Amino acid sequence: MVGFGGYLPNRIVTNDELAARLDTSDDWIRARTGITQRHIAGPNDNAVSMATAAASRALDYAGVPAAAVDAIIVATSTPDQAFPATAVRVQAELGLRGGFGFDIAAACSGFVYALSTADALIRSGQAGRVLVIGSEVYSRILDWSDRGTCVLFGDGAGAVLLTAAEGEGPEGILSTHLHSDGSTGDLLYVDGAIGLRESSGFLRMRGRDVFRHAVAKLSASVDEVLAANGLTYADVSWLVPHQANLRIIEGVARKLELPQERVVITVDRHANTSAASIPLAMNEAVRDGRIRKGDLVLMEALGGGLTWGSALARL
Ligand code: ACO
Repeated sequence: MVGFGGYLPNRIVTNDELAARLDTSDDWIRARTGITQRHIAGPNDNAVSMATAAASRALDYAGVPAAAVDAIIVATSTPDQAFPATAVRVQAELGLRGGFGFDIAAACSGFVYALSTADALIRSGQAGRVLVIGSEVYSRILDWSDRGTCVLFGDGAGAVLLTAAEGEGPEGILSTHLHSDGSTGDLLYVDGAIGLRESSGFLRMRGRDVFRHAVAKLSASVDEVLAANGLTYADVSWLVPHQANLRIIEGVARKLELPQERVVITVDRHANTSAASIPLAMNEAVRDGRIRKGDLVLMEALGGGLTWGSALARL
């Protein structure tokens, strides 16, 4: 992982601003979720523009020109168009004429799915440099009159540049582990899209049930990735979790016996940006010097599907 970038829309919406138009309060939102504010897309922000901004910053960080990228994978549940894929639009925006791009839809687990796919493309020799991007505009699929969901999400994009490295060194993606269970699809879903025109198009969630699944499945997921690498909780330098809810993150950190200082938290300021949350958190912690070369980073996520998974990387 050699490049990191992020983009957050300028507009910040505080809990108090939501409480002025909804039957909710800053206290309730903070206590249940840890969220204090979220960034919301402006009229000129969309999945492609935010992904492009995050990707450009990741390329700048790595000092790699866009022309050297072989593949672009965008994880998003909120594409601007059914097709072309967001990734292909980003390819054009970056001025890239070669390579290929495609999107992955795995809701909040999208970044872990995209990372796993990029790792496989690199290991199989199909690509040498892959941009892995999460870009989400959840503000456009929220029912802003539903206090049970609209307070939880925010918009933004994050990007990581992966590059092939020679040999079997200890750096890079050590392993990724993906899961889904379609029988739990009705716990968290978007009511319709292109194929169901009579539906609302809004995100719907049974929050308490999702919470229950999240703690159990994410705990099993961190065990799985460590066991696969013959490592233990004590080896983990940083937990960079999907940022859905501070209480879920704290539950997993407790399980790992990791102190809060070793957990990257952005949910307080970004809310849940779905597939963008892990790369946004990585970007923040790498750029401010918390995550350093040689650190062992554990990423995990759960989202609509339900989908979930984990990834372990040595920076
Ligand atoms: N403000 C005030 N009251 C509220 C609000 C709000 N924003 N939202 C719900 N309430 C009320 C409910 O109406 C309910 O009232 P009642 O007891 O009178 O019926 C009460 O608060 C409790 O509601 P619950 O839903 O049971 O509250 P809970 O403690 O479970 O917290 C929450 C809700 C924060 C959504 C929690 O369940 C959660 O975080 N779940 C996981 C959600 C999640 O991770 N989603 C993202 C997954 S990733 C993806 O793919 C999108």
